[in-house]
Amino acid sequence: MNILVIHGPNLNMLGKRDPKLYGAFTLEHLYEELSTNHFPEINFTFFQSNFEGEIIEVIQQSLEESYDALLINPGAYSHTSIAIRDALELLEIPKVEVHISDVENRESFRKVDYIKDVCNERFMGKKIDSYLEAIQYLLNLED
Ligand code: DQA
Repeated sequence: MNILVIHGPNLNMLGKRDPKLYGAFTLEHLYEELSTNHFPEINFTFFQSNFEGEIIEVIQQSLEESYDALLINPGAYSHTSIAIRDALELLEIPKVEVHISDVENRESFRKVDYIKDVCNERFMGKKIDSYLEAIQYLLNLED
């Protein structure tokens, strides 16, 4: 199974962000947890960008590649980006949105989520476990 994993802005700063919200792990550690420790059978492609247009281009390019599923944590773009939403709508493969923190129980502006209804499912609030649950969900879809 080939999964494209996209992270949006400021997620390259994991490890330096508020550990109460985001834990103490780095993005590299998260990649390692997913690809080596939990799902060695999955072929992950990891991408992170602080730029909306770059994220959109990677989503568009994925149409030309053979991904089975997409996992995205759009960071703050979840709450602002109709353009990322429109790009995701192009993809027919299963898509999951993931958040490390519980965006429903933080500031009210984080309750706005332009991404959630173009994804099959949303996982949040469980730090690394949000990702593990999301990938398990994608694996279950394949069965
Ligand atoms: C986040 C939640 C967003 O509201 C925030 O802007 C982030 C991280 C999360 O994973 O909890 O950067 O996507």
